[in-house]
Amino acid sequence: MRYAHITGWGKYVPQRVVTNDELAQTVETSDGWIRDRTGIAERRIAGPSETTASMAIAAAIGALDVAGASGSQLDLIIVATTTPEHLFPSTACLVQDALGAARAGAFDLSAACSGFVYGLSLGADAIKAGSANTVLVIGSETLSRIVNWKDRNTCVLFGDGAGAVLLQGSDQPGGILSTLLRADGSGGELLIIPAGGSRQPVTPEAIAQNLHTIQMNGREVFRFASRVMDRATREIIYKAGWTTDQVDLFVPHQANLRIIEMAARSLGVPLDKFYCNIARYGNTSAASIPIALTEAAESGLLRPKDRVVMVGFGAGLTWAAAALEWGEPHPASRSQKTLSRLGYGVASVRSRARRLFRRVEDRLFGTLDPTLQPAPAREPARELPGRNGSEPGRRGDGKREPTPASDPKPESVTANGTPSDQSALEEARS
Ligand SMILES: CC(C)(COP(=O)(O)OP(=O)(O)OC[C@H]1O[C@@H](n2cnc3c(N)ncnc32)[C@H](O)[C@@H]1OP(=O)(O)O)[C@@H](O)C(=O)NCCC(=O)NCCS
Repeated sequence: MRYAHITGWGKYVPQRVVTNDELAQTVETSDGWIRDRTGIAERRIAGPSETTASMAIAAAIGALDVAGASGSQLDLIIVATTTPEHLFPSTACLVQDALGAARAGAFDLSAACSGFVYGLSLGADAIKAGSANTVLVIGSETLSRIVNWKDRNTCVLFGDGAGAVLLQGSDQPGGILSTLLRADGSGGELLIIPAGGSRQPVTPEAIAQNLHTIQMNGREVFRFASRVMDRATREIIYKAGWTTDQVDLFVPHQANLRIIEMAARSLGVPLDKFYCNIARYGNTSAASIPIALTEAAESGLLRPKDRVVMVGFGAGLTWAAAALEWGEPHPASRSQKTLSRLGYGVASVRSRARRLFRRVEDRLFGTLDPTLQPAPAREPARELPGRNGSEPGRRGDGKREPTPASDPKPESVTANGTPSDQSALEEARS
């Protein structure tokens, strides 16, 4: 049987610290209000050159260093984020390129603040199923770029950063023992960015109403979070076959200190068993759990065989939990680290060379087949399925449209008798 162990961990937080007092200069709030209601004292905000990908890469390199591994060993890269660099390509692909992970698959995962635990679950399952042996799971966020800095209900809560873990397969029992993934889409509008997707693209009108920034019903989200923190923690402990007092460390999503305190109280667990760093970073969404886990490991709080429970919750609504047994660290030697750095340098050169090659190829060869000419303008597009309530091929009045056979110019042939671009491309491929 295969087990998925966490063998490396790393984090990156921007240098720039923004205190509550600083925020109070731009919105009507105070250090006292923010500390009392959330436990947050300050947060990190990305500078112009810090992005979701750059922070993810830095955290990933940290995790690979701790494990003494290199990018070329990776089979899979999962980046959990709500603030990807682009809608596509995925941020995970940018990480893959930077790490020189030539054998890895890479994708982004959208489950908001639960994203890291979702990713951990998928990564561990891939290892247990034998389809991967070395998986990088990253949570990275630049929430400062999607926050409305004039909305005191939300802007005081969030921060930027990234955390990563490396999962590796082993026959040694331990590692990720059980996971739990849940969702309730009926609460989607409680925490949402309404514009910027396919339903409502970003328009000047949407921007004027701040619909491209985070909108939140704080009280409802608070109620939901308090409920699922307790329920998911109990469920995952039961699934792992443990009792609550056997857990050595709880690493909860850092959204609000009051939510964590309530969970500790209702579970009957001392608060010092919950790792809390919300005071320094605020809510970093998918990055919060891996940042907290990395800090706990770096500060020596975690020893081999320690039992750890992670619980995340957030937009969707989603929530997720994982129970794991901490493993032995295998820190990289100085020479291994130097070799890895060289590897990342080579990856960067290779990436540039590939881009250059594509440009040269495009200049030299242009189209796939020089005989291919762009097709002339087509006839007006056919009715789309479902428009006017009609089926494809039927008009609104229910009568059949002329079949392609009765059409004077079949679609696959252009006006001058040459095959259209689509069919010619198919021919070229075959
Ligand atoms: C947002 C949150 C901190 C607000 O705390 P709360 O105790 O619920 O506060 P309320 O919403 O009841 O608001 C109380 C008052 O404070 C005001 N207020 C809100 N933000 C404020 C701020 N930053 N500074 C000062 N006052 C503020 C409100 O306008 C309200 O004023 P009113 O009574 O005159 O209307 C809390 O609801 C919360 O943490 N929710 C969960 C958020 C979360 O975790 N989101 C991410 C999930 S992953």
